[in-house]
Amino acid sequence: MKINNVLWGIGLAVLSACAGGKSAQPFERIDADKELAYCDAQLHRALDSLRKGDTIDYTMEPRNIYPGESAWNCRKATKEEWTAGFWPGVLWYDYEATGNDSIRKEAERFTESLGFLATIPAYDHDLGFLVYCSYGNGYRLTQNPEYKEVILAVADSLATLFNPAVGTILSWPRNVEMYGGHNTIMDNMLNLEMLFWASRNGGGKRLYDIAVSHADKTMQNQFRPDYTSYHVAVYDTVSGKCIKQCTHQGYADSTMWARGQAWAVYGYTMVYRETKDTKYLDFAKKVTDVYLERLPEDYVPYWDFSAPGIPDAPKDASAACVVASALIELAGYCEGAERAKYIEAAERMLASLSSDKYQSRDKNVAFLMHSTGHWPAKSEIDASIIYADYYYIEALLRLKAYREIH
Ligand code: GLY
Repeated sequence: MKINNVLWGIGLAVLSACAGGKSAQPFERIDADKELAYCDAQLHRALDSLRKGDTIDYTMEPRNIYPGESAWNCRKATKEEWTAGFWPGVLWYDYEATGNDSIRKEAERFTESLGFLATIPAYDHDLGFLVYCSYGNGYRLTQNPEYKEVILAVADSLATLFNPAVGTILSWPRNVEMYGGHNTIMDNMLNLEMLFWASRNGGGKRLYDIAVSHADKTMQNQFRPDYTSYHVAVYDTVSGKCIKQCTHQGYADSTMWARGQAWAVYGYTMVYRETKDTKYLDFAKKVTDVYLERLPEDYVPYWDFSAPGIPDAPKDASAACVVASALIELAGYCEGAERAKYIEAAERMLASLSSDKYQSRDKNVAFLMHSTGHWPAKSEIDASIIYADYYYIEALLRLKAYREIH
């Protein structure tokens, strides 16, 4: 069985392997089926390692694997654990690729450990990551009506963090005092996808308006004139004025944190898909172009584009996965040389990520190594991290679908 991965707006031009892009270095395009089979094999190894006797604790979601370790370190699926939706999402994508019903059952069990989020007040903005990657993919593939109800309830919950005076969603309620106001982080762009979906599926126009307002304010206040992004914008809670632009996970307030820029690339591409307003498409290209221009030769960024110690600084494969997936979609909204440039860049990223330099293979049960979670906090540096795997398998499915059309 094959269930097509959602692929949006892709037209008819043929992929050019040489137009545009950062480098003229030759590269070998990956075999998407072969890499998806690799993911499936790793995922079975991971499930075996999670099994204790005959059972798995489905409330414990894989999060990271440090160098020298072989199995996932898991975290309890709680409201604080922002990555808990990615593992169920990986399982759903593997089910999409293979049609294997035993994987579907595992996907359901891990997904349903997050159902409690529909019954509690919003803890922070990560509800989109938590629920759209898990329940969202589950609903897309199964049409289970209970999943739809969960997503709609959680979208309403996320909307309670919207401050109309500011025009954005509050990312971290717990950090209002620390930052001196209403904080919005670039990552929050991804959570808008769930609001757009909910709006289209019975949640009402209000959710669409919140998502659009958030995207607009972020565009105004969270980018420098060269289209590189600030991780955090802080707003006066009452007047809504932007009072500070700074970083949390980047190297410095003035630098381009790789995953922050990746969230911007993915976020504005997705907002264009949902609104069809070309200002978002133009903006997605601008934030992509500055990212591509500054990439190292292997198309996988250092964790921050101004990280200390480059070229020996840690990489962030997760940022490369997020951007690769986004660029396959973005290419579909472009024509001619521009389309060729974006799809070639995505192909180069995936070729690099699929090499023995980045794939974990027999070193551990993840798909990929060499991601960086939070360098300033000395956390998850040069590790396998679950969201890298999520966007990697998503990108492979999108690439396969793209090639089937072109
Ligand atoms: N959303 C947090 C991160 O990208 O690390």
